Amino acid sequence: MHEAHAVPVICLDGPSGSGKGTVGRMLARRLGWHFLDSGALYRLVAVAARQAGIDLGAADELAGLAYALDVAFSGDEQGRERIELAGRDVTAAVRAETTGADASRVAAYPAVREALLARQQASRQAPGLIADGRDMGTVVFPDAPLKIFLIASAEERARRRHKQLMEHGIDASIPSLIKEIEGRDRQDRERRIAPLKPAPDALTIDSTGRLPEHLCEEIIALGRDRKLC
Ligand code: C5P
Repeated sequence: MHEAHAVPVICLDGPSGSGKGTVGRMLARRLGWHFLDSGALYRLVAVAARQAGIDLGAADELAGLAYALDVAFSGDEQGRERIELAGRDVTAAVRAETTGADASRVAAYPAVREALLARQQASRQAPGLIADGRDMGTVVFPDAPLKIFLIASAEERARRRHKQLMEHGIDASIPSLIKEIEGRDRQDRERRIAPLKPAPDALTIDSTGRLPEHLCEEIIALGRDRKLC
C-alpha cells in the first residue's frame, strides 16, 4: 500500500445543506484532522471565471483556471472562514447562492473535475482528513475506510442554508432556497460524471432534526469501531 494511503479519510458526501460542512468541520476540530471543502473549490472556479470574464460554457478554459487556482483557506479570530483567491478576500462571493448554481454548472465538466482531482487528493495528510463533497467516496477517495452519506429533508436543508447565508450577511427567502437547492441537487444527481450518489460501501445517515454534536459523536464512534481515531 502506498504510504500516503495509510492516512485515514472520512468521506462526508451528500446534497447541499445536509450538514456535511458543519459536521465535517466539527469532526476535524475534534479529531485534530485536516478538512477538505471540495465544494469551495468548484465555487472558486466559478468565482475565478467571473473575475477573468470566462464564459461558464468554456470547459477547457475553466479547467485551466481550476489547475491554476491560487487559493488560501483560513479563519479569523471568531472562527469565521476566510477564502482568498490570489490574495483577495472572496469569501462572500464564494458563499453566494448564485455561485452555488454556477459551481454546479462548472462541476459537470469532466475536464474541470480532472483538474481539481490531484489538489483534493493532496489534502490527504496525517493525522487524517475529513473530506466534504459529492464524490469523495465514489471518485476522489474510493479506498476511504469510512464513508458517510448525509441526507436531510429539503425544508431543513433550506433552513440551514438560510442561517449560513445570514451569517455571511446574505439575504434569501426560504421558498426560493428550497427551489434552488432542489434544482441544484437534481443537476448534481443527474450529471453523467461523478453524480451525487452514495458509494456502495457508504453508510447513509439522516441528519433531519439532529444536532451536529450528536452526528459528530455517531461518526466518531463509527471511526473508533474501525480503529481510525
Ligand atoms: O457543497 P457546495 O454547495 O459548496 O458545492 C457547490 C457545488 O459544487 C455542488 O452543487 C456541486 O455541483 C459541486 N460539487 C461537486 N463535487 C464535489 C463538491 C461540490 O460536484 N465534491
